[in-house]
Amino acid sequence: MSELGTKKSGGLSRRDFLKLMGAAGTGLAFAPFVPFGNFMPNPNQASLEKVPVILPDGTQANINTYPINHGEVITYPSTGDTALDAEAFRKWQFIRLPEELGGGKKDTTAIRAYSMICLHLWCLWKYWPDEGRKRGECPCHGSMYDPVTGTAFLGPASVQAAPSNTLAQLTLEIDSDGFVFILPPKFNANENGVIGYGRFA
Ligand code: FES
Repeated sequence: MSELGTKKSGGLSRRDFLKLMGAAGTGLAFAPFVPFGNFMPNPNQASLEKVPVILPDGTQANINTYPINHGEVITYPSTGDTALDAEAFRKWQFIRLPEELGGGKKDTTAIRAYSMICLHLWCLWKYWPDEGRKRGECPCHGSMYDPVTGTAFLGPASVQAAPSNTLAQLTLEIDSDGFVFILPPKFNANENGVIGYGRFA
């Protein structure tokens, strides 16, 4: 299919890589528990521990300073290897909800971390905080995601059957100083979801 991109000679294109990973994710979705290390190339088992949410500026996210109605890209699991950490399947939108959706609270109900892989054809969506938007939007075919639930409410991803209408999500924790952590995920459709495949909401 032409929209799936061109293949570079002698190697996998990014699109082929995503297709491959998605196929793996679909199969793994039916396993009761899937260690993320088996799902990713060059697994880093150490990542299955509780880890801090590291923002693009290198600091750890803190509920006392992270802006309300705001999204940043975070990497999980992070390996320290620049090429591996750039993979789309490691990218998540770390969102603090708008005030009217509970983003003013100082607990985990105010924040979310969703896989950035759009459930339609795996483009990268992002959170738009602008008035009248305040939602995740995919630039490719217009799928829109509810920031509270991670479920698509408009566009092609919204008409896909569950679990492929709801984004994979990381479980977050906040310590007594306000610092935010990612708890070890369970990447199956009934718990944290499967990246590129979905989650039962
Ligand atoms: S890839 Fe088609 S709407 Fe996101």
